[in-house]
Amino acid sequence: MAKVSVTSVELPPRPQLFDFHGVSMTEYFTQRWETIQNFQARPDDILIATYPKAGNTWLSYILELLHFGQSSSEHLTSVPLYLRVPILEVTIPSLEPGTELLDNLSTSPRLIKTHLPVQFIPKSFWEQNCRIIYMARNAKDIVVSYFHFERMTFVHPEPGDWNSYFQRFLEGKMVCGPWYDHVSNWWQKKQSYSKLHYMFYEDLAEDTGREIDKLCCFLGLSPSAEERETILGKTQFDNMKTNDMVNFSRYKGMDFKISHFMRKGKVGDWKNHFTVAQNEEFDEVYKKKMKDPSLQFRTEL
Ligand code: A3P
Repeated sequence: MAKVSVTSVELPPRPQLFDFHGVSMTEYFTQRWETIQNFQARPDDILIATYPKAGNTWLSYILELLHFGQSSSEHLTSVPLYLRVPILEVTIPSLEPGTELLDNLSTSPRLIKTHLPVQFIPKSFWEQNCRIIYMARNAKDIVVSYFHFERMTFVHPEPGDWNSYFQRFLEGKMVCGPWYDHVSNWWQKKQSYSKLHYMFYEDLAEDTGREIDKLCCFLGLSPSAEERETILGKTQFDNMKTNDMVNFSRYKGMDFKISHFMRKGKVGDWKNHFTVAQNEEFDEVYKKKMKDPSLQFRTEL
């Protein structure tokens, strides 16, 4: 198969999805599985967990500014976020594996990004009683965001056209498995693991300050009013979109001519993509798969 060339970097062909312990994955998420499973978490590590496209980058940047905004501003302006908050499970071309980046990370606490379903989280995180923040986003906006992301990201499977992608999402054949299981199983974990803060993208979009206050309460942080204002400004969508250290423009596995990593940042963009029939089908499937009435999502604000 011909290799894809993006801005002079040779990339391998797009990866294939395969079943991995009951979850669709690609080799980029599984190839160093033993090392990932044996990863040694530290008690002060903070795990930032999301299904893909639920706003992990946004949340990671907020957490980074809360922890290090004052002390290491040079670091923040010279090293891309994907190196400062590494993805635990990922081994992709032209980047050191996540576990190695984490082993060499000098920050304390370490902020660790993951998209893994809860059952795949290395056991040391539970043993060390680490703080975990899970952010969920409504499924309709996820499928749209994921589609555009996979169009422009060569380290993900080829998405095909919108209609077939939509069907594949309903079947749960996406990297990291079905959205329904991901958000529901993490929600269930929250009932038994007290150091898990479960939050929603839609709430963060509605009132970022309020959600930052809740995060601070969970993390035992008390930023000054001025620091809080600075964080609110820096993490606004338009500011993140033009910040080369957080917008992934430094990463060569994405083609920004196709789409942007910081694409729209809206609640309700699904309305610009779903047909009426697709929306009805989606709602039908949703009703069957989402049985827990205590887990509710908003698809518009
Ligand atoms: P869209 O594709 O809908 O724009 P992740 O970081 O988990 O991959 O999630 C990416 C999604 O979060 C993208 O959604 C991106 O635009 C959105 N996002 C990132 N930063 C944001 C911000 N500051 N405000 C709102 N949305 C943001």
